[in-house]
Amino acid sequence: MEPLVVVNHKTYETAQGDAALSLAKAIFAAQRSGIQMVSVVSAFDLSSVAKNVSGLSVWTQHLDPVGFGSNTGHLSPSTAISNGATGTILNHSECRVSFEHVRAVLEMLPNDFTTCVCAATVDEAAALAALNPDFIAIEPPELIGGDISVTTADPGIVSGTVVAVHAVNPEVRVLCGAGVKTGEDVAVALKLGAHGVLLASGVTKAEDPTAVLQDLTSSL
Ligand code: G3P
Repeated sequence: MEPLVVVNHKTYETAQGDAALSLAKAIFAAQRSGIQMVSVVSAFDLSSVAKNVSGLSVWTQHLDPVGFGSNTGHLSPSTAISNGATGTILNHSECRVSFEHVRAVLEMLPNDFTTCVCAATVDEAAALAALNPDFIAIEPPELIGGDISVTTADPGIVSGTVVAVHAVNPEVRVLCGAGVKTGEDVAVALKLGAHGVLLASGVTKAEDPTAVLQDLTSSL
């Protein structure tokens, strides 16, 4: 499977509503053979991005283990799928959930729906790998939104997560994130054994997101 560059729109103003659509188009434009680009959008923007950027993988930022019914405020997996989501992240540092929550959501999803569970430590990553998501994303919370990439600040957590996750479940691929901004960061991530990167501010706060996206994919 080709390396992934996963861009999380979070709730950045530059990545919501009409801006979410423009950003998703720029993300899709950076996709070429050998790379898979992903937009992780707000639930409010899911349907519009999925409808208008055909061919792009569009993920949700969170899901809850609920079906149809009386579940005010929750995000139901089947509604996400019917609105065009092809994957999700779960347990992001900014939206932590319990191990049981992750397990329950994963059990509700079809096999062709991509799942990426975030972890803050090597131990958490290893524990979550037993739940058999497609990806584990290792992101040290203190580096999120910062200027130094995890691949520079703490390369050992990336390589250590790859080893620990594969010891539990060799099928699970590892992404890394926090402070990733350049093609060089992506190249180092792959050297450390990651299968791609998960990032946000490097793109959402960039003056020229297209140039950043081009650089991010330049080493792939
Ligand atoms: O989900 C991506 C993330 O938490 C990393 O954010 O801004 O450090 O790239 P950022």
